[in-house]
Amino acid sequence: MTNEPSTQTPTDAWKQALASRKTEVAEAETLPLAAVSPIDRHVSRRNFIRASFWGGLGITLLGSVGLLLDFLWPRGVKGFGGPVPAGNVADYPRGGEPRANSEGQFWIANLDPGETRRGGTDGADGLLALWRKCPHLGCTVPWRESFTWEDTQGWYRCPCHGSTYTKSGIRVFGPAARSMDTMAIEIDAAGNITVNTGVITSGGPDNPTRAVQHPMLPS
Ligand code: FES
Repeated sequence: MTNEPSTQTPTDAWKQALASRKTEVAEAETLPLAAVSPIDRHVSRRNFIRASFWGGLGITLLGSVGLLLDFLWPRGVKGFGGPVPAGNVADYPRGGEPRANSEGQFWIANLDPGETRRGGTDGADGLLALWRKCPHLGCTVPWRESFTWEDTQGWYRCPCHGSTYTKSGIRVFGPAARSMDTMAIEIDAAGNITVNTGVITSGGPDNPTRAVQHPMLPS
């Protein structure tokens, strides 16, 4: 083993020492960058979870609203609340007694304006459909052909509290606040009648003007 004399000068030693310090500083400078990266990943994951939660909640709510609308949407409504057939105009002689329609919950008659008696048609001329539900508290109002009141026979008379209506549904007595409600009537070219029980108009003094005419209606 030989001990050779060192050829390194003091200047070289200083250069080496300085180089060594630079390396350490450079490595230290990289530390913060290395530390930031996992935090970013963590924040990104949290955002992803949050977005997934709200997105899932939104889709669930939209689905629920869609199901509710689908359930409530009227399609092919039959019976009360929709169009109800009521025969042909030929079935209704002018001035005849009102006919009950249980499916549509209405009375229908071909009213004669010549029936001027008290309790008569109030000048109505044609087909009129009256909702049989009493405007007072909702009892079913019957047509009472033989009921006499104020010396005239034939009235709508509610059995619950006595509200009394003429043949065109005009209220003349009792606690009901208005006349009987009317329903929309459509008649096709062949005279077939459809009463739209979903289109109800509140009863009023203009009930007689709501009577519907048709060329084939018996006169
Ligand atoms: S419910 Fe018809 S008069 Fe009261």
